[in-house]
Amino acid sequence: MTAVREHFGSRLGFILAAAGSAVGIGNLVAFPVAATKSGGGAFLLIYALFVFLICLPVMMAELALGRRSDKDPVGAYRELSNRSHLWRIPGWLALATPFMIAVFYLVVTVWVLGYLIETVTGNLDKLATPDFFIQFINTPQIFIYLVALMLVINAILAMGVKDGIERAAKTLMPMLFVMLLGLVIFVLSLENASLGLKYYLVPDFSKVDGNVISKAMAQAFFSLSLGMGIMITYGSYMKRQDSIPGSSRAVAITDTLVAFTAGLLILPSIFHFNPQIDPSELSESSAGMIFQFLPKIFLALQDGIGYVGASAVAATFFFLVLVAAITSLVSIIEVPIATLRDERRMERKKAIYLIAGVQFVLAIACAVSFGMVNWTTDFVQLAGTNKSFFDLVEIIFYDTILPLNGLLVCLFVIYKWKKANFDKELQEGDENFAGSFSQKYVNFSLGTFIPLILLLIFINTVALKFFGHSFI
Ligand code: ALA
Repeated sequence: MTAVREHFGSRLGFILAAAGSAVGIGNLVAFPVAATKSGGGAFLLIYALFVFLICLPVMMAELALGRRSDKDPVGAYRELSNRSHLWRIPGWLALATPFMIAVFYLVVTVWVLGYLIETVTGNLDKLATPDFFIQFINTPQIFIYLVALMLVINAILAMGVKDGIERAAKTLMPMLFVMLLGLVIFVLSLENASLGLKYYLVPDFSKVDGNVISKAMAQAFFSLSLGMGIMITYGSYMKRQDSIPGSSRAVAITDTLVAFTAGLLILPSIFHFNPQIDPSELSESSAGMIFQFLPKIFLALQDGIGYVGASAVAATFFFLVLVAAITSLVSIIEVPIATLRDERRMERKKAIYLIAGVQFVLAIACAVSFGMVNWTTDFVQLAGTNKSFFDLVEIIFYDTILPLNGLLVCLFVIYKWKKANFDKELQEGDENFAGSFSQKYVNFSLGTFIPLILLLIFINTVALKFFGHSFI
């Protein structure tokens, strides 16, 4: 006998859960870092265009696939392709991608948890020293943090879709919005904050090149949790009377607002720390920014609000990032769980144990890739440079397969499942969709320029990451 499929309890519950998936390290850290390096307002503008013109239709396509099939990504492609063998491949890719992204995302979240614990135990001054990060990520403590983090995430998942995922999102997301706003208000009251605002909001188009455009696209795609099977899975938990276009818009707006607000937090803080700074010279990576530069900024606040005050601000920030990362990880790990439940008829708890076991081993292999174990640290040579196991997972699944999955979703929905079926699914639960501009745009764009753009990004990424050449 088949178990009744779980569903989100309400439309708001779905929106908060999907926003919980979307809002993550990508928004709170990667987005402000990218905006800082790539022309402030100019990056913002390009990013917003990508979100609403390209990512939004892809999100609708993924949700529609999930809701129509009532299945995990593997089952969705199988059912809606009439069991075509070829079209099973994107289903398996949409399963492997979140499974592996969870592995490196877990490791970064473990570092955030570690930094939170160090901060609340009075060690903010240590975090601000130059070598702390590299020493910290090579200490055995991180394995204990990994176990703790996995216990929390899997406990939420064990409670199921409505009582676990949805309830956690309903509690954690409003808390995240309030903390983020509180921090922004505090930061904007600091001296020289307006310089940061100006840098952030005034567009500098001289910094925009092909690379920036491709970065904005990848960032928007990851931030909205696309190409990872998540929205297919969450679509299968959506009620038929809820509007897919309306809910997608709500999720995209929330996600973009949070990313924008995170920039209001980071850039004014940087300028308060040093009004003469040129932010585009700052750390290239998000990890460099969050784990090496931000602790220095937080520590410098002690001149105005004392060490305890500075530690409280830092702890709030790390807690915020931790909460966002946990709600994202919950959605990422739900994809393989849904697959085991749908395809193998496995009980939720059994599926959780199995997946957590494999992910734990792989996360350890990633965590020891920073010097602890030579073999995983110098794992392969790509485009003439040594890459660690962590780097390899990120390059294959985040950089390369994500846009490929997006491309395959577009092609599948329009040319295999067929435009008319897709359109019918979008109209269900949304009586205003038929005949709207949105309907025409979504149908046209998904069959034409969106897959083309994703194809170009995929080709360029393969050329760049694997062969060291870029076309743009
Ligand atoms: N969408 C999630 C993030 O931005 C995965 O981090």
